[in-house]
Amino acid sequence: MPEKIIIFDTTLRDGEQSPGASLNIAEKVEIARQLARLKVDVIEAGFPVSSPAQFEAVKRIAGEVPAIIAGLARAKEGDIKAAYQALKEAPRKRIHTFSSTSDYHILGKFGSSRYGQTLAEKRKTVIQMSIDAVQYARTFCDDVEFSAEDAGRTDIGYLAEVIEAAIEAGATTVNIPDTTGYTLPDEFAEKIRQLKKRVKNIERAVISVHCHNDLGLAVANSLAAVQAGARQVECTVNGIGERAGNASLEEFVMALNVRKDILPFYTAINTREIYNASRMVSTFTGFPVQPNKAIVGKNAFAHESGIHQDGVLKDRNTYEIMKPEDVGVSSSKIVLGRHSGRHGLKARLQELGYRLSEEKLDQVYKLFVKLADKKKEVYDEDLRSLMGEEVYSEKP
Ligand code: KIV
Ligand code: ZN
Repeated sequence: MPEKIIIFDTTLRDGEQSPGASLNIAEKVEIARQLARLKVDVIEAGFPVSSPAQFEAVKRIAGEVPAIIAGLARAKEGDIKAAYQALKEAPRKRIHTFSSTSDYHILGKFGSSRYGQTLAEKRKTVIQMSIDAVQYARTFCDDVEFSAEDAGRTDIGYLAEVIEAAIEAGATTVNIPDTTGYTLPDEFAEKIRQLKKRVKNIERAVISVHCHNDLGLAVANSLAAVQAGARQVECTVNGIGERAGNASLEEFVMALNVRKDILPFYTAINTREIYNASRMVSTFTGFPVQPNKAIVGKNAFAHESGIHQDGVLKDRNTYEIMKPEDVGVSSSKIVLGRHSGRHGLKARLQELGYRLSEEKLDQVYKLFVKLADKKKEVYDEDLRSLMGEEVYSEKP
């Protein structure tokens, strides 16, 4: 029987940490609604203690969006309390706390002697901080995730100790991040297998992975990890995130869908909402999607050479391993123009993932009419950039 992989989307937290990608609160709520339509299981909405705007965005999403809503917190009481305060309206909430576990991080971040003199003492302090954080988070909520930051470069014996302590303290999900995107697929899979062997009561928690893309291996590492026993994958729309980004949600999900023959897993993702999500994230962050990007790039389903065109016209299977419609790329486009009314505009915007109040629709309609006067046809891309302008104009 295929097993479910939980999709934990961190577009609004790690994704928003991409240099230059700041989103306002209205944009975050709009993206969170689209993530709910995409049917991600968990939305990491932000890092509440880090700023009042982050706090407010998490609070709004927690109150309005139907999914498990997670908030990030360092292993500190103040962070955990702030995460809970921001999340408390959510019917289903998760506090996500983390400690650094690699020697690079421990020696680099906890250099001061108050954490201990030697590496062994500092490592002990990290374990205690992790236990305290998980136990404290559990006083607020039953769903607590613990991450061992830089697990990819953490010695396996010590990593197993930290993860065991976190589970003992009450963590319900244990996340193994390849924070620096350093590992190779076989190596990362082996890390997961070793944890399954070494950690007492590992079956009490869901094993999660969170792979960065510094070597372009984030999706490959995530796939290797699920084959080794991970059951939650953390990812972002368009693969945005710190530095070279995170595992791309659309690539991971479609790899499982297309290669069901050798990957006996499924997700709850409504793949037909993938393209809308990709466009919305690109518009609001201002990060273009490269044309050859797998799944959502403009050329992902385009055939240029005569041989390919001929083949595809005869039988799509010759050069396409998935249907564009399956990821929400429609070949038949409804074209709006100067004769289109508010209803037509509203319906098309809804298909693109935007749900507007009547008041907002009026504002967008005025912009649409101006544009339609200048252009013969208003395409989906035009509507998406109108929506970008409209929401940007609300920036606090
Ligand atoms: O990359 C990372 O280690 C993180 C953690 C906070 C999960 O983003
Ligand atoms: Zn990360």
